[in-house]
Amino acid sequence: MTVRAQALWAVGHRVVSLAMGEPDFATPAHAIEAAHRAARAGNTHYPPQDGTPALKEAIRHQFARDNRLDDALDQIKMANGGKQINANAFLATLDPGVEVVIPAPYWTSYAGQAKFAGGVPRFVVCPQNKGFRLRAEDLAAAITQRTKWVVLNCPNNSSSAAPGEADLCAIAEVLPRYPHLRVLSDDIYEHLIYDVFRLLFRLDLKAMLALGALADKAGRAQHARPPIGLSDGPNFVSLESLPA
Ligand SMILES: Cc1ncc(COP(=O)(O)O)c(C=O)c1O
Repeated sequence: MTVRAQALWAVGHRVVSLAMGEPDFATPAHAIEAAHRAARAGNTHYPPQDGTPALKEAIRHQFARDNRLDDALDQIKMANGGKQINANAFLATLDPGVEVVIPAPYWTSYAGQAKFAGGVPRFVVCPQNKGFRLRAEDLAAAITQRTKWVVLNCPNNSSSAAPGEADLCAIAEVLPRYPHLRVLSDDIYEHLIYDVFRLLFRLDLKAMLALGALADKAGRAQHARPPIGLSDGPNFVSLESLPA
């Protein structure tokens, strides 16, 4: 779809492409220059798969500064984008038939990734007449003993909905009722929000992490391509650490 839109733009058609989403500004010069400097300094070989210690330290600093999270370095992972982080989490943890609760509308890849890993997506409708907001009672009704993950994505792709304080408190009250749950908090758009909401969201994310949430974000807001994904949460590589 994106290639088709680009081909139409090239011959002068006015097309609004809703395919691939990207900011409308270029990668900032300082990001390009830092990548250039690193390559010139010899950083052109395979790094550790989950990130070099220096990079993980920088990510830890960012999580502490922006999200008030203070986790050990071995809980911080790099990947080639948020998509890989989500996919890795599902592949590492889903057994056939295990359910993933996904508020809808949703970013299309969650369902495909869950199915690819053998899981079963269960959608929670966030109604248009409620501003597409996730209601705690609908979330609670979708969770079963077979649910392993609840995916939260605020602001939401594609509705851009974000929970208000009352919504967040209600959701934060529901989730601890299910100790077998893991929360995948996809914060990729955390910088595309207003200040009041940002404050609420950070506080709530911290509370949810007590459940074993996986926060994930990418260099989307700064458009720091090549894309990177950062995650902070339980170590999914060691499967023994997960509850049965
Ligand atoms: C909600 C959401 N999560 C994750 C991603 C994947 O981002 P990345 O390009 O970092 O893999 C996207 C991309 O559109 C997205 O909208």
